[in-house]
Amino acid sequence: MQKPVRISPSILAADFARLGEEVSAIADAGADFIHVDIMDGHFVPNISFGPSVTKAVRGYTDKPFDCHLMIAPVDPYIGDFVDAGADIITLHQEAGAHLHRSIQLVKSHGIKVGVSLNPATPASTLEDVMDEVDLILVMSVNPGFGGQKFIPSQLAKIKTLRGMIDASGRDIDLEVDGGITPETAPLVIEAGADLLVAGSAAFKGGPEHYAANIKALTGRA
Ligand code: DX5
Ligand code: ZN
Repeated sequence: MQKPVRISPSILAADFARLGEEVSAIADAGADFIHVDIMDGHFVPNISFGPSVTKAVRGYTDKPFDCHLMIAPVDPYIGDFVDAGADIITLHQEAGAHLHRSIQLVKSHGIKVGVSLNPATPASTLEDVMDEVDLILVMSVNPGFGGQKFIPSQLAKIKTLRGMIDASGRDIDLEVDGGITPETAPLVIEAGADLLVAGSAAFKGGPEHYAANIKALTGRA
């Protein structure tokens, strides 16, 4: 069932020179999760940061850390992100040949597991893991960079996944990531998403704007 919308601001768009304070500020402004984008310059054409930076900022909030691993291979690094304080680890369907094994590896650490789909990967690729996942992340841009434009064809995929989740009867979050703004947020919510990632739109204007930015994205009072 679709839940009331929640937001997971991506600290990729934060001021890296003061990352700990940025995590506290966005949490205090109403973030439900903290989205941590990990890029390796191999699976995606950009490098962000790794487990040591994640661990360094973990103590700046009690909000769950939603770690989005855009890395391949992914299995060798899962333990490091668990140690860094990840509450949810989302890996990519496209990151390796053995998705089921990677999912089990995350679950073996007793935390939640998500699977992300790139824009060209169909919803049907998750049919055989619906009993295993806690979260599905639809990429509405090609992963690698913040500030890109929303790809409208992903709305149909969100609708399909909403149907698959409801049919499963399981508690699975449906998250959307990339180009989420006050204009695109209502479209993805209407399609069935219940967890929004926002980088640029959440961190726009600096800390004094974060609460208003989150309000504009979620429609919450
Ligand atoms: C893209 C990342 C996103 C990104 C979103 O590869 O996974 O989380 O930071 O940034 P915006 O909201 O600016 O599109
Ligand atoms: Zn992300």
